Amino acid sequence: MTINEVQQEILRLKKEKDICILAHSYQAREILEIADFTGDSYALSKMAAKTENKTVIMCGVRFMAETVKILSPEKKVILSNGTAGCPMAEQFTKDEILALKEKYPGYAVVAYINTTAELKTVCDVCVTSSSAVQIVGSMENKNIIFIPDCNLGSFVADKLPEKNIVLLQGGCPVHAAVKPEEAQQAKKLHPCAELLVHPECVPAVSKQADYIGSTSGIMDYAQSSDKKEFIIGTENSIAEHLQYACPDKKFYPLSKSLVCLDMKATTLIDVLDCCKGEGGEEIVLDEETVKKARGCIDAMIALGG
Ligand code: 13P
Ligand code: SF4
Repeated sequence: MTINEVQQEILRLKKEKDICILAHSYQAREILEIADFTGDSYALSKMAAKTENKTVIMCGVRFMAETVKILSPEKKVILSNGTAGCPMAEQFTKDEILALKEKYPGYAVVAYINTTAELKTVCDVCVTSSSAVQIVGSMENKNIIFIPDCNLGSFVADKLPEKNIVLLQGGCPVHAAVKPEEAQQAKKLHPCAELLVHPECVPAVSKQADYIGSTSGIMDYAQSSDKKEFIIGTENSIAEHLQYACPDKKFYPLSKSLVCLDMKATTLIDVLDCCKGEGGEEIVLDEETVKKARGCIDAMIALGG
């Protein structure tokens, strides 16, 4: 079968079986083309609450599929490839967070959405990289424990000096691996390009950037800018997608190492198998987990996230 034939079969099956396909922007182009909705974690979490189909296939990583299940427990939610996890989402256990809450009584726990459903059950509010500054800024609490990403957390702390934010030693192994020297070298190689980076990068990289923002923030900035060249400091698929979207501009990946193998685990054939009812992994969460984790996501939505 050609790629186009597989895509046509997926489109036919999803119509026949009332399936909605959600895909994170880090997915391959051939998957984004057949998805009903694409976007960053923030956009996907909003879409997860709205979709009316009986079945949702999430092309992304496990915490994203769990978010859909938490918001729509009555739906059948399938993670497109059962091996696609996010290493950052599992960096802390529920017991470690409970111990922190004891150590810092009265502090609100803010969880990056890149956390497991289990972890969300002991947190107060979720944020995404798009919404973190706005949400933490609109919280009444001055004292905050931010989990798990210390790089996104320090980006938020810089923007909101009035808050007292406790950070942990967690982070995205893909974004955090970019070295400050790589940013210096890329800027030297492309002196006319603007450097756009994701806040999951370390501060020594982010402080060299012309713009710091989420996946959608970076895409919107590059597409609407008058500038012609950009160094893209997030997963390398974004430089590729932008190059197709803006053929008159130039996009350079900040680092060859900016590849998330978990985001790359899903293939178009995986999506076809999910549509046939043969592949992927159905997300199963117990009622108590859904109820408690939902509080954390609802709090994000109530604060305007
Ligand atoms: P956003 O989708 O919030 O930009 O996050 C990037 C990411 O690493 C997703 O796992
Ligand atoms: Fe997790 Fe980082 Fe991959 Fe996103 S890019 S899924 S945060 S490991």
